[in-house]
Amino acid sequence: MKTISRLESVWIFLVRFCFVCMMSRASSYSSESMIRRYDNWLEQQGKNYTSTDEWEMRFGIYQSNVQFVDYMNSQNLPFRLTDNKFADLTNEEFNSIYLGYRSPGRLTQRRNFTLEGSIPASMDWRRKGAVTPIKDQGKCGSCWAFSAVAAMEGITQIRTKKLISLSEQEIVDCDVGGGNNGCNGGFMTKAFKYIHKNGGLTTESDYPYLGRNGVCNKSKLEHHAASITGYKLVSANDETELQLIVANQPVSVAVDASGYSFQLYSEGVLFSSYCGKTLNHGVTVIGYGKDKGRKYWLVKNSWGTDWGEDGYIRIERGIRDPSGTCGIAMEASFPTLDRCLYNC
Ligand SMILES: *[C@@H]1O[C@H](CO)[C@@H](O)[C@H](O)[C@H]1NC(C)=O
Ligand SMILES: *[C@@H]1O[C@H](CO)[C@@H](O)[C@H](O)[C@H]1NC(C)=O
Ligand SMILES: *[C@@H]1O[C@H](CO)[C@@H](O)[C@H](O)[C@H]1NC(C)=O
Repeated sequence: MKTISRLESVWIFLVRFCFVCMMSRASSYSSESMIRRYDNWLEQQGKNYTSTDEWEMRFGIYQSNVQFVDYMNSQNLPFRLTDNKFADLTNEEFNSIYLGYRSPGRLTQRRNFTLEGSIPASMDWRRKGAVTPIKDQGKCGSCWAFSAVAAMEGITQIRTKKLISLSEQEIVDCDVGGGNNGCNGGFMTKAFKYIHKNGGLTTESDYPYLGRNGVCNKSKLEHHAASITGYKLVSANDETELQLIVANQPVSVAVDASGYSFQLYSEGVLFSSYCGKTLNHGVTVIGYGKDKGRKYWLVKNSWGTDWGEDGYIRIERGIRDPSGTCGIAMEASFPTLDRCLYNC
């Protein structure tokens, strides 16, 4: 279920069991300076705990996360970590609260068409006005709904020139059964299926996000601010095809976000040795590019703007493993607004 990279597990091993190492590190972490750092962090996060027990327990977790952050940031990697809002959570807690994609493990479509035309060297759909501001799923495993909605907002704007923020809550509340399960997880492809079957989706403001499972308000199902004609799968493990589709519209992808490097990500290009490929989180690829010779996917997440690069993460692109970094090329899909697109 939970996978962490080998490097991370080595680090956890060191933190938990290698007391000698800890002693030698202790010099750079006086308990006063760590407490000060923790207090500053609590203040910055506007957090307070209800008991001293919890304060102490969270302090232990914070300290071990911060040591991991400092260690990683000292390694001259192309990405940096930080003690963000998830810094007082163990990786297990983080995974159980925030990850909600269940891999169907059966998307094995192969490309059966040729790639035509030239693909731009870089793409950022934000610049073309096809991306709504970063949203926050809160403590609810509804990433799959956010991923699907962001892809739909994208193609809607590209075809109609109207950027409309659409409702995740409608999907969380109303697309139940058949595999999707609100805050307990779901699939982007099933969300597309639901939206298509329903004839469309209403706006964010008409059916606002609650961050918990609610009762479907059936009177809103007929409010169609936008609609789709279906969805398609990107050929599995084909970053070239993924790039072609992303050049045309934002695409829903699943990634393995279960590692500490994803939890505590701050900026830069996250690269492949730092995540696994057990798919557990739905996000949306809204572009791609190259930074200091390192190719990346530009990914919209749904954990608020106080995570990553103002809510975005860049993930290494074009690696040798065809699954892509964090498994990003394994189960990609996108909504269609045309009857016939790409391979018909
Ligand atoms: C945190 O809450 C406790 C009571 O539970 C209170 O005494 C303390 O002043 C609070 N600290 C901050 C920084 O708000
Ligand atoms: C490609 O796949 C579509 C289904 O997505 C199918 O209808 C079509 O016949 C296939 N074309 C070739 C050349 O295999
Ligand atoms: C459902 O939506 C309608 C407006 O479309 C609103 O009047 C009604 O109060 C809502 N019902 C619930 C249970 O929230």
